[in-house]
Amino acid sequence: MINLIFLGPPGAGKGTQSARIIDEYKIVQISTGDLLRAAVKAGTPLGKEAKVYMDGGQLVPDSLIINMMKERFESDDCQNGFILDGFPRTTAQAVALDEMLQNELKTSVTHIISLEVDDEVVVKRNTGRRVCPSCGATYHIKFNPPKDGGKCDKDGETLVHRDDDQEETIRKRLGVYHDTTSLLKDYYSKSGKFFELSGDDHPDKVYSKIKEILG
Ligand code: AP5
Repeated sequence: MINLIFLGPPGAGKGTQSARIIDEYKIVQISTGDLLRAAVKAGTPLGKEAKVYMDGGQLVPDSLIINMMKERFESDDCQNGFILDGFPRTTAQAVALDEMLQNELKTSVTHIISLEVDDEVVVKRNTGRRVCPSCGATYHIKFNPPKDGGKCDKDGETLVHRDDDQEETIRKRLGVYHDTTSLLKDYYSKSGKFFELSGDDHPDKVYSKIKEILG
């Protein structure tokens, strides 16, 4: 059973690597960023409230995120394992996650992998990122370009540039990561399940190192 948490700055490759893991290990990916963007697109009360924080590069308040995740864990697709991509991001979220897993799912986290990437690489990756609004596939205009200009290789949809992928917002998101989320490395470092990996290498190389950890 794999219950993995991915830590790492924005653009570290959490989504890119998650897509490979879910294909091979047949487990589900839960991305709080994707859940929030879906809520924004649907115009729900959560989406309207979250959008203000997301556009400003700030974290959405813990209470909203924790409630959203409690709801998400009610689906029974997590029984065979999961990847948490973008959650937890604060100590309060990490504590709430431990409680949710223990009390409701009767399970626990098996691996925490932190992808380490330099700040300037993060800026280059996120400014060049393009995503498919339909299937969520992620590309980079230089490092992983789509075959047909601005269209998704999988479904031909026109790719979009995320609202929070402007350089000024990326730098704010990086600041939030260093001030708050990176502190979770201390929270997990003594668990015996914590691994730090360079995310600077080619995605294939990063993935093979992840597979060595997951077994
Ligand atoms: P979220 O969507 O989670 O954004 P993030 O953590 O900033 O992560 P990203 O999705 O930007 O990056 P990634 O690591 O998945 O990188 P990717 O694989 O796409 O969150 C967005 C916002 O939602 C937050 O700012 C916050 O407001 C809110 N939020 C979400 N969760 C929250 C929570 N728990 N609490 C509070 N607020 C929350 O790769 C990036 C690019 O690099 C791509 O173009 C890719 O092709 C390329 N690339 C990937 N790997 C490589 C490689 N090895 N070499 C070269 N290029 C690569």
